[in-house]
Amino acid sequence: MATVDPSTLITDDWQVSGQIYTDPGLFAAEQERVFRSQWLYVAHESQLREPGDYVTTYAGTQPVIVSRDGDDGQVHVLLNRCRHRGASVCQAEQGNSSFFRCAYHGWTYANNGSLRGITYDAGYAGLDRGELGLVRLPRVASHAGFVFASFAADGPSLEEHLGHAAPYLTTVSQQGPEGIRLSAGGHNIEFRANWKLQIENTIDNYHFGFVHRSFLDVLADRIGAPPPIVKNILTNPEWRTVDLGNGHSAHEFGDPRSGNNHGQLGDLPFNLIIFPNLCFVGAQVRHVLPKSADRTQVRLYPMLHEGESEEHNAGILRVHESFFGPAGMGGSDDVEVAFDRVADGLRATEHDWLYLSRGLHREEPAGDGRIIGRADDELPQRAFYRQWFRSMTGGEK
Ligand code: FES
Ligand code: FE
Repeated sequence: MATVDPSTLITDDWQVSGQIYTDPGLFAAEQERVFRSQWLYVAHESQLREPGDYVTTYAGTQPVIVSRDGDDGQVHVLLNRCRHRGASVCQAEQGNSSFFRCAYHGWTYANNGSLRGITYDAGYAGLDRGELGLVRLPRVASHAGFVFASFAADGPSLEEHLGHAAPYLTTVSQQGPEGIRLSAGGHNIEFRANWKLQIENTIDNYHFGFVHRSFLDVLADRIGAPPPIVKNILTNPEWRTVDLGNGHSAHEFGDPRSGNNHGQLGDLPFNLIIFPNLCFVGAQVRHVLPKSADRTQVRLYPMLHEGESEEHNAGILRVHESFFGPAGMGGSDDVEVAFDRVADGLRATEHDWLYLSRGLHREEPAGDGRIIGRADDELPQRAFYRQWFRSMTGGEK
């Protein structure tokens, strides 16, 4: 359990202790109070179209299989852990199978998790096979094709959890004429820093002109003028950040209802964070998988447009690669500066406080639970930590 008291880690003027990113006990407490008690994104229905389709991923740190039942078509989220002696039973990132067979001693499970067979079973007396299926998460629900699961049998419904964020997810799902699909697969990155740094960096417009200077310079060369991104961030009143409640937030730079993104190929008209582990940037689903206090995996899934031509979708992939690919002009800069250098700097602990107060004095309550901020404010970070604080302490910030 936590070695530090989470209620001491955020001050009223929004200084945040560095321990929030480094303390292993706090990480363990987060797994319990955030990841084992709230709705977690696990997969998209386009990955699970046929009976027997599955993906493997993580719910918090716990390995799971998200599987479409071959019999009744239901989606189950199963712990990827053999009931015999604990080996994970499925290794592929996605596929189609009617069963999962553990490689250690051959116990076999149906794709709904039930135990189908024990090898050489005369060696056991009195095992209750009905009790020995893969453990299922008690709640699975989806919104606009995005599948979420919860370890908690009771609590707010998915729709209650999503609240003001739900219409944004609906807009995401309508990007192509017939919807979206994640059929290009995942592009995975891993870094030695805390998972919350990835969430914080997802809507951090303050950093763009600094970390992505070289990208802006290349763009300026190409178009023959400084690109308007930084000017828009600092002065365009239509670019804004929104605290959507429950830890969710958005940066709007187009029309979030119509999906109008001013003609950028594949891109959404907003960036979006769904608490605690799902983000949308450009044309990408970003699934954040915490591994330990100082290690994180992020899976990036470019969203292809159903009903569009191969050329159109290939174009979306090329745009994704040009910024986020290993030789891209942006993603690796974020890993270097926003994750690696922050993790490095946080090893200096004599004065252990960071500032997330940018724009606090100009937050504007919308009257319906949402809070509006300027594009360059740290409002999305505060939105996230308000829910984090609530989950970790039961109190309000
Ligand atoms: Fe799976 Fe033994 S650990 S069959
Ligand atoms: Fe960035």
